[in-house]
Amino acid sequence: MYTKVATALSFASLVLGQQVGTLTAETHPSLPIQVCTAAGACTTEDTTAVLDANWRWTHVTDGYTNCYTGNAWNETACPDGATCAANCAIDGADYEATYGITTPETGALRLNFVTSNADGANVGSRVYLLASEDKYRLFNLLNQEFTLDVDVSNLPCGLNGAVYFSEMDEDGGLSRFEGNKAGAAYGTGYCDSQCPQDIKFINGEANSEGWDGSDENSGAGKYGSCCAEMDIWEANSDATAYTPHPCSVTEQTRCESEADCGAGDSRYAGICDKDGCDFNSYRMGDQSFYGPGSTVDTAKPITVVTQFITDDGTDTGSLSAIKRFYVQDGTVIPNSLTVIDGIDATNEITEEYCEQQKTAFGDNNYFKTVGGLAGMGKSLTKMVLVLSIWDDHAVSMNWLDSNYPTDADPTAPGVARGRCDPADGLPETVEAAHPDAYVIYSNIKVGAINSTFTAA
Ligand SMILES: *[C@@H]1O[C@H](CO)[C@@H](O)[C@H](O)[C@H]1NC(C)=O
Ligand SMILES: *[C@@H]1O[C@H](CO)[C@@H](O)[C@H](O)[C@H]1NC(C)=O
Repeated sequence: MYTKVATALSFASLVLGQQVGTLTAETHPSLPIQVCTAAGACTTEDTTAVLDANWRWTHVTDGYTNCYTGNAWNETACPDGATCAANCAIDGADYEATYGITTPETGALRLNFVTSNADGANVGSRVYLLASEDKYRLFNLLNQEFTLDVDVSNLPCGLNGAVYFSEMDEDGGLSRFEGNKAGAAYGTGYCDSQCPQDIKFINGEANSEGWDGSDENSGAGKYGSCCAEMDIWEANSDATAYTPHPCSVTEQTRCESEADCGAGDSRYAGICDKDGCDFNSYRMGDQSFYGPGSTVDTAKPITVVTQFITDDGTDTGSLSAIKRFYVQDGTVIPNSLTVIDGIDATNEITEEYCEQQKTAFGDNNYFKTVGGLAGMGKSLTKMVLVLSIWDDHAVSMNWLDSNYPTDADPTAPGVARGRCDPADGLPETVEAAHPDAYVIYSNIKVGAINSTFTAA
C-alpha cells in the first residue's frame, strides 16, 4: 500500500535489458487456475507464471558483460535509455535455483524470501500469471469473485506476501513500445499505484538517466511506471489488508516529474492514489480477528474470497462494494466489522466507508480525487495478476503490521495497524533473522459471485 519501491533486490553479479537473451532457457512454471460459472461448474485453465524482468540478468546482447551491476548501469552499454535497451538483453531464469520459486503441487506456487545461489543471494520475487507463452492472463473482475488459498504460517512480521492486480498491458508493452523486444514472456511492463521508479526498463527504454543507486542492490531512475492496482492480499502471519488504488489513467503510464509520479511532497498530486482505501481488520478496530490462533488463524492455510459487487448486479455496472470472506476448516468467516468512532459498522469497502475512514483518521482522500471506487471498477475489467514476496526498504512494512506514521501517537485513530515491533521489518534485520521465510499461494479461482467457495 504505502510503497513497493526498492524491493527488487537482485544480486551483485547479475543484471538486466530489453532484448531477449538466450544464455538461460526460460521455462514458465505451470500454475493452472480454475474458472467457475454461476451454476457452480469450474474448468481448469493451463496458465503459467513468469518472473518480472527486474529480477533478471541483463547483459550485452552479444556477450556476458553486465549492463547493470549491483546498483549501477554500465555507462558504455548504456549512455542513454534507448541505446541501452538496444544494447542489452534480459535473459531466462532458473526459477528454483536462483530465485527460490517452486510449484510444490499442481496449482500451488511457493515463493522463498532469501535464496542463496551461485552469485550470492536473491531477496524476494514477483511473478505474473500468463495465459499463453507471451500474453498475460487478463482478468475482468466486475461482478466476479476471486479466491485463493494462502499459507502465511512461515511469513513473520516485516514481510509481505502480496497478491494483487495491476493494469499492465496484456503483452507487457511489446506492441506499444518499439524498444521492448522481450514482452510478457520475460515479465516486462510492470506498473502499480506507487509509480515505482526502481523499474530498470520502462516503455522500451532503460530508466538509466539520473539513476540513483540508493541501496546496495537497487536504485531509482527519473521515470516511474504507474497504473491502477487492486490489492487483494497484502499480509504476513500478523496483519493483513485489502486495498483498491485507482489512478487517473486507464493503462500503464510512464511518469517523469515529481508531480506526476507523486514522489516526495507531491504524494497527493500524482497520477495514482498511493494510499488507497484499505481495510486492515486490526487498524479498523478488531485486534483479535487475524493472527496465529485468532478467528482467522494464520498458523493454518486460509481461503481468501474477494467479491467485486456492482451497483446493478451486472458485469457492466459500476463497482459499489468490495466484500471479503475467509474460509477455514469448512467454516465461512465474514470479514471483521469496523469498530471506530465516526465509521458506521461495516465489513466491506464502499465509497461511504472510504470517506468516513479518511475523515476519522485525518487522511487525505486522494482515493476519491483520482476516481474512487467507480474509477477502480473501470480498471478492474483488464487486470494482470501479480504474486510476490517482499521486504520494505522505505518504511519497514510498518504501514501494514505496526504503527504508522512511525512518529505518530500509536493511540491516535488509524495509526496502529498490527502487533509487530516497528524494528522487525528493517530489511537487514528480517533478512538476517528469517531468510527461510516463505509464502504459498494455491487453488486460484475466479468466477461468478458465490461460485468459487463453499462451506463444509
Ligand atoms: C561495460 O560494457 C562494455 C561493453 O559494452 C564492456 O567492455 C565493459 O567491460 C563493461 N564494464 C563493466 C564494468 O562491466
Ligand atoms: C451470495 O451469498 C450471500 C450469502 O449467502 C448472499 O447474501 C448473496 O445474495 C449471494 N449473492 C449472489 C449473487 O448469489
